[in-house]
Amino acid sequence: MAEAGYNTFLLRSEDVYIDLLTDSGTSAMSDRQWAGMMLGDEAYAGSRNFYHLEEAARNYYGYRYFVPTHQGRGAEHLLSQAVIKPGHYVPGNMYFTTTRLHQEMAGGTFVDVIIDEAHDPANLHPFKGNVDLDKLESLIKRVGANNIPYVSLAGTVNMAGGQPVSMANVRALRELCDRYGIRIYLDATRMVENVFFIQEREKGYADKSVAVILKEFCSFTDGAWMSAKKDHLVNIGGWLAVNDSDLFDTLRNMVVIYEGLHTYGGMAGRDMEALAIGIAESVNDAHVRSRVEQVRYLGDLLINWGIPIVQPVGGHAVFLDAKRIYSHLSQDQFPAQTLVAEIYLDSGVRSMERGIVSAGRDSETGDHRYPALELTRLAIPRRVYTQAHMDVVAEAVKAVYDARKQTRGLAMVYEPKYLRFFQARFEPIT
Ligand SMILES: Cc1ncc(COP(=O)(O)O)c(C=O)c1O
Repeated sequence: MAEAGYNTFLLRSEDVYIDLLTDSGTSAMSDRQWAGMMLGDEAYAGSRNFYHLEEAARNYYGYRYFVPTHQGRGAEHLLSQAVIKPGHYVPGNMYFTTTRLHQEMAGGTFVDVIIDEAHDPANLHPFKGNVDLDKLESLIKRVGANNIPYVSLAGTVNMAGGQPVSMANVRALRELCDRYGIRIYLDATRMVENVFFIQEREKGYADKSVAVILKEFCSFTDGAWMSAKKDHLVNIGGWLAVNDSDLFDTLRNMVVIYEGLHTYGGMAGRDMEALAIGIAESVNDAHVRSRVEQVRYLGDLLINWGIPIVQPVGGHAVFLDAKRIYSHLSQDQFPAQTLVAEIYLDSGVRSMERGIVSAGRDSETGDHRYPALELTRLAIPRRVYTQAHMDVVAEAVKAVYDARKQTRGLAMVYEPKYLRFFQARFEPIT
């Protein structure tokens, strides 16, 4: 830990026992996806794998036009540069690190319009990812609809603890945005998991398949970007899809500058084939259920032991409430980062911080942003670990929790300018 600056992003993977750093690019591909890797058409232009991919994305998400990118942030970059102008405001249901940075680098200001319940880890609202329409409307009235290029809507809101958006909320959001002529773009990265919660919790959806619900949800939005490394069960890949042909024209032109030709966007042909197959596998109802229920299995073990976590348990990860666990530490002693380090030291289980370090600094004042949520994330890769691994993780968290009163915080001794959580270094406070 000392060598890695108390930052689990700086560990070598060979020094990790159970790796819950992220569910991004860490899922296991199926036999069918691996077979697809053998069918790579590596032509520079017009690869047949691209057309399979385009068709799969269109089939399941329903948008008209498709642009491949190397991963999610490549798509965020293109969309932000294409539609945000300096002075614009971009409302969203809680920030995400790379998404907000791209919005800011294009000259926009992110404004959080998620419902208040999302900022309270103990609140049991079933759809804590919902947009607060009153907050959004008052922003529109304050800055004017012309200064809002789009609403940045995310499914299974990562920074809120993997919390879903309801169908009723996206439908109402569409109505509001139509009144003001504002577009809605969806971060569809974990939308399949969001759909599972709609199927489970929202009236009228229990008998509809994940695939059907997914398409209905997307129909209320104008386009989406995707980090395919999550829901889509591949190690690398992403895309962007929109309904507007002029915007598509711009994006398809920009992709050749930053990603690669518009028929590969930074991916190899074989990767596009595995991704096309992964999209179809990702909406399999039994798969989504077992994935989300494995996360819930771990969450329930911790709840039963009285360990504070974000509830309801989210779709892709269990989030430990470091503020409550280390209530004796101030937020600038990095309680969630401290918890990450302690769990690794106990058992070799790797997690990551989603609190003050991830939130970064306010671009105007230069001070830390102090998010209400100070969380340690245990993200579970898909189709990789067994329930027995979850038992080991739960016991590690319990051991660290039991020793919480003796734990001291950390000081940041190296801070990179952008997305500091990836590379920052810390030392224990003595
Ligand atoms: C919600 C969300 N959006 C966007 C991204 C960015 O995607 P990528 O890591 O593929 O660049 C991620 C992953 O880190 C994410 O979790």
